[in-house]
Amino acid sequence: MTAAPEPEILAAFEIAKGFMPVDEGLALYTAAVDAGRLGLPLLEVGTYCGRSTVLLADAARAAGVSALTVDHHRGSEEQQPGWDYHDPDTVDPQIGLMDTLPAFRRTLFRAGLEEHVVALVGRSPQIAKVWAGPLGLVFVDGGHTDEHANADYEGWAPHVADGGLLVIHDVFPDPLDEFTGQAPYRVYLRALASGAFTEVSATGSLRVLRRTGPGI
Ligand SMILES: C[S@@+](CC[C@H](N)C(=O)[O-])C[C@H]1O[C@@H](n2cnc3c(N)ncnc32)[C@H](O)[C@@H]1O
Repeated sequence: MTAAPEPEILAAFEIAKGFMPVDEGLALYTAAVDAGRLGLPLLEVGTYCGRSTVLLADAARAAGVSALTVDHHRGSEEQQPGWDYHDPDTVDPQIGLMDTLPAFRRTLFRAGLEEHVVALVGRSPQIAKVWAGPLGLVFVDGGHTDEHANADYEGWAPHVADGGLLVIHDVFPDPLDEFTGQAPYRVYLRALASGAFTEVSATGSLRVLRRTGPGI
């Protein structure tokens, strides 16, 4: 069953800077509502300016849990100056580096969702190393190199609780469709091959998997 957020939440998602199309957003929201039933936090790797966070936060609010979102806010490789996904407005002119934290905070404030989100600012593997608790949902949308995508999987997938969901963005089985590399696709295959996760849905490049066994 597909869950739909209230129109003002969908509007906040749509006006936020980011890359996720609406159909994938609705699939993410549906997964977050489903996972919320476990009563555990929902975690995202790759906050950027908070577009997908809005949907996780709204589902977390409804479930009475927190949405956690991890990012160093310096941008991925393909978002740096000179690359296709670069937005010059995300550069802090004082230091000449990307800083998406202010835009993220504005997105959450405007959506009225600040109090349902904990922003974890830093490198994903470093934060994963000090994280111990179970999670209802892990949404992987961070760095798209094999190194980063595998580190996110190894760092966070072990925390997905039994019956919880692992959601992977930018899964492109056909190399002709992808713009940022096929590492997320390889991680998706790895998760399925582990025997720990079973596919629930596929929408655009978003894959939702459920933990149905131990390990990763
Ligand atoms: C594709 S964007 C996320 C898009 C966002 N989920 C949305 O829907 O708008 C990827 C983000 O991952 C972050 N990132 C990349 N590698 C990271 C790492 N190793 N640790 C923390 N954040 C990382 C980047 O800074 C960037 O903001």
